Amino acid sequence: MNEPLNIKRGDELKLQIKSLAYGGMGLARKDDFVIFVKGAIPGQVVKARIYKKRKGYAEARVQEILTESVKAVEAPCDHFGICGGCRIQNLSYDEQLKEKAHQVEDAFRRLGGFSDFKLNDVVGADPVFQYRNKMEFTFSSNRWVLESEPEDVNKSFAIGLHIPGRYDKILDIHECHIQPVMGNRILKIAREICLVHPELKPYDPKTHIGFLRYLMLRFGVNTGQLMVNIVTAYDDLNKLSPLTDALLDRVPEITSMVNNVNTRKADVAFGDYETLVYGQPYIDEKMGDLTFEVSSNSFFQTNTIQGERLYEEVVKAVGLTGAEVVYDLYCGTGTISLYLSKKAKEVYGFEVIRSSLENADKNAELNEITNAQFLKANLDTFFKSGQLPRRIPKPDVVIVDPPRAGMHSDMTNYLHKFKAKKIVYVSCNPTTQARDAKVLAEKGYEIKSAVMVDMFPHTPHIETVVLFVKH
Ligand SMILES: C[S@@+](CC[C@H](N)C(=O)[O-])C[C@H]1O[C@@H](n2cnc3c(N)ncnc32)[C@H](O)[C@@H]1O
Repeated sequence: MNEPLNIKRGDELKLQIKSLAYGGMGLARKDDFVIFVKGAIPGQVVKARIYKKRKGYAEARVQEILTESVKAVEAPCDHFGICGGCRIQNLSYDEQLKEKAHQVEDAFRRLGGFSDFKLNDVVGADPVFQYRNKMEFTFSSNRWVLESEPEDVNKSFAIGLHIPGRYDKILDIHECHIQPVMGNRILKIAREICLVHPELKPYDPKTHIGFLRYLMLRFGVNTGQLMVNIVTAYDDLNKLSPLTDALLDRVPEITSMVNNVNTRKADVAFGDYETLVYGQPYIDEKMGDLTFEVSSNSFFQTNTIQGERLYEEVVKAVGLTGAEVVYDLYCGTGTISLYLSKKAKEVYGFEVIRSSLENADKNAELNEITNAQFLKANLDTFFKSGQLPRRIPKPDVVIVDPPRAGMHSDMTNYLHKFKAKKIVYVSCNPTTQARDAKVLAEKGYEIKSAVMVDMFPHTPHIETVVLFVKH
């Protein structure tokens, strides 16, 4: 790769965007030198300013679109380009899928060494908006003011989402297109009530003064249930009552309202404890013929409809007959285990977070599933250090669904020792998946099929299901 000596920070260049790089930036080349361009989509010609230069690549930000892409569409969101959420909303959905598929294939070819790797299928989302079943909005006394806003705009209240790279500034969100319409109604009511009740003061992460921290919403897409979780910096239900009363009065669809109290400085919606304000402390959600109890802090796939399609791809890949012992590694709250349990002899889920395991047990009980067991395990070392109880049989099939960083190398190197006929690798990061796949190939597994499921349209996120079979 050539490295033109003349590119430096602050330079403005005319660039032709060739493709979308993993992570969502536009990719351009100047004399073979790679430049990632924030806010650009394939097909555009842009004027961009370099803000970072490293060995082998640079990063730039769009200053002006000189020629629009034929693949561009009107972004429906008023907050597009400011809110960091749906960064590729202005690229047609077909092109988003093509670009993401290309990123997966590129990762497997370049990083995994699978020179003829091809995806067998790409499962697009439908619907492509209003798909999130969980939203977390932040209350703030430090509103991000737009250039287009009048001088006298109220700067000391916002409810919305973080500006990328600014932990202290919140963009006031009026309409978020990836949440159900109901969520926008709730945001509007919350804003209205807070603005006329000065005691409902947003918490300030710099001074640690203030009351309201987050408004978290959970939607039971297949059940119609709705949870509102208001996270506060201290416990004062009386003070909170104008907000809770107004929401309960004006949104009869609410089936659960809780108040999580987070007295810690950490910027998380997870409370030290929770008080039930109304209804049940959880919502029910259905996936396939299973029902899950989802409480404010439990993990659940954030796109119910695509989550089901993802699990169906796992079912297809494993092709169970009913006689198999299945291991579900990194099982979270056990949704994949439970999904597969009816088609398997026994399923064993392994996970490090105790509360997730408790959820998994509860969900097994709720669905009267008796052939799934869940074990606490730090999978970095669990199998290698011989901690698997003797009573547990060897698996015929192994599912792995690790976090973005992929599997720990000790786990990846151990996996073949199970001698499982099939390994299904579910991943939210094709680059680490390709790296791990290379090890599996060296240990005697070959890729039989690979499918991409788009869980989060308009965002750079990618989910894949890859089936490996033993030679
Ligand atoms: C992508 S999520 C899996 C979600 C789950 N399969 C589902 O569909 O709901 C990854 C899971 O790996 C768990 N995890 C991360 N590191 C781990 C480790 N070292 N050992 C065991 N589990 C781990 C996380 O707690 C998380 O639940």
